[in-house]
Amino acid sequence: MSTSSEIPQQENPEILIRPIDIDRYPAFFTAAHRETFRLTFGSEITDEFLEKEFARTRAASAGDVNAVVGAFIDDWIAGLAILETRSRAGAAQAGWIHFYYVAPSFRRRGVGLQLVGYSAEYYRALGINKFFLRVGEDNLSAQAFYLNTGFYRIPEEDIISLNGVKELMMAFDIGK
Ligand SMILES: CC(C)(COP(=O)(O)OP(=O)(O)OC[C@H]1O[C@@H](n2cnc3c(N)ncnc32)[C@H](O)[C@@H]1OP(=O)(O)O)[C@@H](O)C(=O)NCCC(=O)NCCS
Repeated sequence: MSTSSEIPQQENPEILIRPIDIDRYPAFFTAAHRETFRLTFGSEITDEFLEKEFARTRAASAGDVNAVVGAFIDDWIAGLAILETRSRAGAAQAGWIHFYYVAPSFRRRGVGLQLVGYSAEYYRALGINKFFLRVGEDNLSAQAFYLNTGFYRIPEEDIISLNGVKELMMAFDIGK
């Protein structure tokens, strides 16, 4: 079995993005949601909320197998993206990023950037030219990541969410 000392350390690793069945990676999925929830809402995720995340993710996979993907370095799962599609009021269908996550030991090596690139190609193939997400006001590293990978703010669509946390709206325009 692999140990943490064997985690690949190269600076520009080869990253493979492919659809995953989340039930094969329950520990990774749980850790991803625990950390992201804590970073976003400043409290611990409940078992009930986590179970809802599993259900929502299984539904996304069932709707389109390419909507839930893992990023792999060698055989290690390093990242996760959950992509949804929504109708926006009075507008065409748009992409909605439910979740991006990169495990701590794989951060700052371009995995997140590859997940954004995958998302753009995924939505482009569906004829969608824009995708959106929300990020917690205090999650400054994720905000820096988004602003450095092509997203921009839409302040008038910010919301107040769980625990009174302000969630910032961000968008990404897919070029022709
Ligand atoms: C946000 C996250 C997905 C970024 O993934 P990543 O693989 O580390 O990102 P990348 O290596 O592709 O970074 C691309 C660029 O974004 C910016 N960036 C990424 N992380 C950053 C940070 N912590 N601080 C400042 N800028 C950052 C940099 O410009 C970076 O390029 P560089 O490393 O050449 O300077 C990852 O940190 C994460 O999973 N965080 C915890 C979960 C989370 O907050 N998810 C988002 C919820 S809305």
